[in-house]
Parts: sequence; C-alpha cells; structure tokens
Amino acid sequence: MITNAADYLKKVDGACDHIRQNLGGCEVPKICIVLGSGLGPLADLCDESGEIDYSDIPGFPASTAPGHAGKLIIGELSGKLVFMMKGRFHYYEGYEPEDIAFYVRVMGRLGVKTLVLTNAAGGIGEDFVPPEFISIEDHISFLAAPALRGPNIDEFGPRFPDQSYVYDREYLDIMAGCADKLGIKIRRGVYAYTKGPQYETPAEIRALRSLGAICVGMSTVPEAVVASHMGMRVAALSCVTNMAAGITAAKLSGEEVIEVAGQASESMCSLVSEFVKAL
Ligand code: HPA
Repeated sequence: MITNAADYLKKVDGACDHIRQNLGGCEVPKICIVLGSGLGPLADLCDESGEIDYSDIPGFPASTAPGHAGKLIIGELSGKLVFMMKGRFHYYEGYEPEDIAFYVRVMGRLGVKTLVLTNAAGGIGEDFVPPEFISIEDHISFLAAPALRGPNIDEFGPRFPDQSYVYDREYLDIMAGCADKLGIKIRRGVYAYTKGPQYETPAEIRALRSLGAICVGMSTVPEAVVASHMGMRVAALSCVTNMAAGITAAKLSGEEVIEVAGQASESMCSLVSEFVKAL
C-alpha cells in the first residue's frame, strides 16, 4: 500500500523523466498498448523508434511472468505514435497493487490519454470455442486487493472514483466496428479479476458465472481502475485461451494459455492495429 503520497509521486515523476529523456526524439505518444500473454508479436508490427528496458526505468518493477519481455517500445502503429508495454506486472508475482499499476500512473503523468489493455482469459460459458475475443465492458474485482487503497493522491484523481464507465463506451463501439470490418467474432462482457497464481476452482467459476462474468483472468483490472481514476480512456480486450475450470474435463495449464494466445495473435494484432487506426 502507498504510505507516503509525496514519495510515491516523486517515484512516478522519476520514471517519467527517464522515459522523456529516452524517447529518441519522438513526442510523448497519446496511446499506450499493453501486450498480454503470448501477444508480444504486436510489437513486430510497430515501426519502432526506440525501446527502454524496464530494468533501466527507476521505480519500475521487474517483469517475471512467462511471455512478458520487460520492454517499453516507442514507435508507430497504424500511423500513430504509441507506447507498447511488452510485459506487465501481476499480483501473483508478489507485487502490490500500487506496483502493478505504477506504469499506468507514469503513462498518465506523461500525458497518455488512451490505455489499450490486452490479456489472456478463461471463458465462462459453455459456448466458447477458444481462441475467441471479448471486449471488456465491466469487471468484478471485489475479491481482489484494491489498487487505490491507501492515501489518495489528489493529483491523480478523486478519493472515491465512480466505476460506472471504467471501460470507455465509445471505444467498445469502435472495437466492435473494427472486429466486424475484419470478420472477427467478438463478444462484450464482464471480466472477473482473480488473484492467482492458481487457476480458479470449478466452484469459484460457478460462483463467478452466477455473478454475471463471462471471462476470468489475473490482470488488467488494477491498471484499468488506476487509468480511469486519472481520467484516461480505457479499452480492454481479452483473448479466451481456454474454458474456465470445471466447464470441460480438461485440466488447465499455463503452457496451453501461451500456446492458444499464440494461435490467436495474428487476429489480435489485426484487431488492435485496426482499433488504433480508428482512434
Ligand atoms: N483463469 C485465470 N486466468 C487465466 C485463465 C483462466 O482460466 N486463462 C488465461 N488466464
């Protein structure tokens, strides 16, 4: 938990300074795209101007999750200057929510206005055929540690932020239009955020289904909450890589998630590129 707001703000500003000094002559992009498990290939579509190792950015945590390279890319995608986060931070790695969302605060302070989050998720509902895509329209996060706990930093946003529109409504429509144009099936729905690293039990999945979730995963929500707290507009795209626990007899594995995310990455890359073009 943040205990000293002034120190945390100083840490955020230190990271901002380092990034500003290493933009390779580019302006600060207005869009930041976060690449989830197995979705790193999107960075190959980016006309790269520079990259910064997370380990060189003061205050940035180290990225330890499989498939998360730990690099911030600066370049053009679909003719727009973007940041790409190749790797993010998760609660299950041992990070506190304010560390998980640290980079979002850095992006917000730098002047990024749009955060595009991608992730791999388990599908809740018998009619999923992985890989499939979901545009997240809302989430359930009260089972996990809240990212905004601790003293509020008024420079970022209000103490009690409204959560009615964490995911930008217009972006949901734009994403649906892009998927339609590309002939990619996409659903809209509620993402349930779990702490991990263990997958959910079948009983937990039944509970989440009865609460209205259509997919489940271990990322995205702390970042989305912190971004919307700062007034950033958020789009979030899940790739359903597996049926959630208990829906079929199959056992869940991290290897399968990475493999199926890899199979979907071409479509995911097209969808995100098209979305960025439409912004
Ligand atoms: N549960 C949680 N996180 C996930 C899953 C899942 O089934 N699949 C991919 N990430």
